[in-house]
Amino acid sequence: METIENALGTLRKISNTSTEIDEYCRQAVEIVYDSNDLFDWVGIYFVRDQELYLPSTSYKGLEPEHKVIPFSKGICGAAATERATILVDDVNSDPRYLSCSIYTKSEIVIPLINNKQLVGVLDIDSNTPAAFHSNIKTELEEMASIIAVSLAEYH
Ligand code: SME
Repeated sequence: METIENALGTLRKISNTSTEIDEYCRQAVEIVYDSNDLFDWVGIYFVRDQELYLPSTSYKGLEPEHKVIPFSKGICGAAATERATILVDDVNSDPRYLSCSIYTKSEIVIPLINNKQLVGVLDIDSNTPAAFHSNIKTELEEMASIIAVSLAEYH
C-alpha cells in the first residue's frame, strides 16, 4: 500500500506526463485507491450537461449501477451542486444515498474544481462505517485539487 505522501507525489508526477485522459484517470484512480486500505471503491465522475458521468476507465472496484447521476440525485449530485465535500459516515441513514454496492458503509465525495469551474467529482466508498475522518478528508481534498488541475489540462 502507498502512503498518502507517496500518493500525492505520484499524482503530481503523472500530472506532468502527456498520457490520454482515459489513461490519466485510470492511473489517478488507482493511486487514490491504493493510498488507504479502507478505500473499497474509487471513481472520477465527469460533468456532462447537468449530469455526472462515469467512464469505464475512471473507477476501481465493483462495477457500479449508477454511471450517470443527475445533479439532483445522490451524494455525488449533492457534492456537485453544493461544490463542497460531502462525508457520510453511515450511507444507509442518508436519504440522498444512491446504492452501488450492498457492502458500502461510508462514502466521501469531493468536487473537482479548477479555476472555479466544476470538472467532476471524486467519489470514494468504504465497506467500513465512518472510514473518512477529518485527516483523510484533508488529504483527499489535496489529491482532488491535483486531479482537478490535471483534468482541466485535457480540455
Ligand atoms: N453512492 C453514490 C453513487 C455512486 S456509487 O457509490 C459508485 C451517490 O449516492 O451519489
